[in-house]
Formats: sequence, C-alpha cells, structure tokens
Amino acid sequence: MAELQRTLLLVKPDGVQRQLVGRVLARFEERGLKLVGLKLVHVDRALAEEHYAVHRDKPFFRGLVDFITSGPLVAAALEGPNAIAIVRAMNGATRPHEAAPGSIRGDFAVETAQNLVHASDSPETATAELALWFRPEELLSYQREIDRWVLAPGD
Ligand code: CMP
Repeated sequence: MAELQRTLLLVKPDGVQRQLVGRVLARFEERGLKLVGLKLVHVDRALAEEHYAVHRDKPFFRGLVDFITSGPLVAAALEGPNAIAIVRAMNGATRPHEAAPGSIRGDFAVETAQNLVHASDSPETATAELALWFRPEELLSYQREIDRWVLAPGD
C-alpha cells in the first residue's frame, strides 16, 4: 500500500491550441489516477510569475511567462499512490529530445519552450502548487467504483 498523493498537472497553452487536452488527460485516467480538480484558466502574469518563481533569474523566464499567459491552459489535480512520480514519468523529460517515446513529451513535443505539460516535482511543490491553482473547495474527495481494481485494499 503506497502513500496516496495529490499533484498538479498543467496542460499548457500549446496543448490546448493543439487540441491535445483530451488525449493527455485520458492517459492519466487510463493509468488509474483520479481527477480531483479540473479547470480551464487564462492565467494572469502575477500567478504565472509565482508559479515559476524558482526560474525568476533564468534567461528564459520572461518568455516562459509570456508563453504560459498566451492563452488558456488546463489545470488538473491528480490523485493516486505515488502520483507525483507517476505523473512526472508520464510527462517525460523537460527537454523533449530527451523524453522517452511513450511519454507525453516524447510522443507529442519537440521544443523545451513548448513542452505541453507541467507537473509538480516533489511533495512540497505539489502542496504549494495545488494551493496556488485551486481553492480548497475546488479539490474533491470521492470514491470511484473502479478503485477496488486500481488501489490496494485500504488505500
Ligand atoms: P516546466 O516543467 O513547466 O518547468 C519549467 C519550464 O521552463 C519547463 O517546463 C520549460 O517549459 C521551460 N524551460 C526550461 N528550460 C527552458 C529553456 N532553456 N528555454 C525555454 N524554456 C525553458
């Protein structure tokens, strides 16, 4: 029985424009992760800069904020055993030419600046990012009928 975690997934504006939202979310659903929050957002610069604060001093920061605010994106909260590591692995390496085929970036992306998805990289980041993107009441807890076939007893 592994620890149940929640993590933030963003399908960035390139994913929305390329009409890949359904295919990306379907991968996580098929894997067995549970959607516990979901919204379409056109994010303002203040939230974008806070979300990417660790990159504030990087040369690509301004372009990154321009890109993430350029159109609507989809923010999802996903729950499951080891969800943080699972979502990171399914997204693939940040630089798409290093992303394994079969991962989202390995299958759909070629540019680091337009790498389709973002996911929290640690439990601390997941907590902070979920609080940034979702109000507490927007994160739901519910049972799925399939959970007994996906989760270990007691999860
Ligand atoms: P993400 O997982 O959202 O986290 C930080 C983002 O910065 C990363 O994905 C990329 O989209 C972006 N990024 C990282 N390195 C570069 C780079 N060299 N040029 C442009 N964007 C970058």
